[in-house]
Amino acid sequence: YPSEHQIMIDAHELLGKLYHHLLLNTKEGAGALDYLLSRGFSPEGIRKFKIGYSLPEWDMAVKYLTKRGFKEEELENAGLIIKKENDDGFFDRFRNRIMFPLFDTKGRTIAFSARALESDDSPKYLNTPETAIFNKSSLLYNYHEARSEIRRQGYAVLFEGFADVISADQANVKNGVAVMGTSLTNEHIQLLRRLTDTIILCFDSDQAGIEASNRAGSMLVEKGLEVKAALLPKGMDPDDYIRKHGTEKFRTDVIGNSLAWTAFKLHYYRFGKNLKNEGEKLKYIEEVMNELSKLDNPIERDLYIRQIAEEFSLSLEVLEDQQKKLVQAEG
Ligand code: GTP
Ligand code: MN
Ligand code: MN
Ligand code: MN
Ligand code: MN
Repeated sequence: YPSEHQIMIDAHELLGKLYHHLLLNTKEGAGALDYLLSRGFSPEGIRKFKIGYSLPEWDMAVKYLTKRGFKEEELENAGLIIKKENDDGFFDRFRNRIMFPLFDTKGRTIAFSARALESDDSPKYLNTPETAIFNKSSLLYNYHEARSEIRRQGYAVLFEGFADVISADQANVKNGVAVMGTSLTNEHIQLLRRLTDTIILCFDSDQAGIEASNRAGSMLVEKGLEVKAALLPKGMDPDDYIRKHGTEKFRTDVIGNSLAWTAFKLHYYRFGKNLKNEGEKLKYIEEVMNELSKLDNPIERDLYIRQIAEEFSLSLEVLEDQQKKLVQAEG
């Protein structure tokens, strides 16, 4: 790293330690700590992920870091402080928020994601902008810690939110990573495939989550990875689930029951449809038949066609006939 990068990292490391201390050991941080504990973060989790708290003050980081020799311009380039509009000094980017450090592949703090305490404070999460040391489209949350577990277990679990990664880690699912609120990129996929060729997607069970799973999974399948999807009850995310049903059920019923990619696609086409409605039912069957025509494995195809025939009381012959036509069209 050139020295100006090292300076940015040093500033993050130092400030991260201060945030962590403020959360754990001060009365100013007590409200934030209560919030974290009450939503199920454990003291060990808080320490492992070096979670912290930024004070409501306007210039805590400015003062703390300039006193220790950092120049305002360096801190501005690092994304930690912002120039006031009248050009008269700087203020802290992060105030009165729960601070989640983001680590690079070597475990050094290079950015923060900061969660609002009050639900009416928008945005819910505020991230460091792109800087010379932080590129969000190539960062996977927890990659540094999860790396050896992903190798050992032979697969990675990809979550939608990093709060889910922390919750899963506490549930002893330690091979989890998350993107930082962006879509999955080729850079993320490169990072993952260095470690494994199998990914379990475990996204939020809402429209946005299932659409994101479909997009991420399709990209991974295209790159030749094996993809499964772990499903949650509608409306829940992994963190909600673990809090409600416990760690054991998460491991066995959610991760342990992950669907193969084709089965996920069937679930995906079904999601949000009312299959009692004739039109939506026909649409569903059409989408599934199209999907099945892309399969390379005739046995797998046969399995799902029989399933559809049974579920909708259709003649196997008609379905097989139509499938033949689709497969021919597919080439
Ligand atoms: P909690 O409400 O704390 O449980 O968060 P969550 O992990 O359930 O987050 P959610 O499902 O709402 O969003 C998933 C991910 O999208 C988060 O981890 C963030 O990276 C990102 N995200 C969500 N809301 C915001 C936002 O307001 N701003 C930004 N920049 N990113 C967000
Ligand atoms: Mn959201
Ligand atoms: Mn979500
Ligand atoms: Mn969520
Ligand atoms: Mn959540």
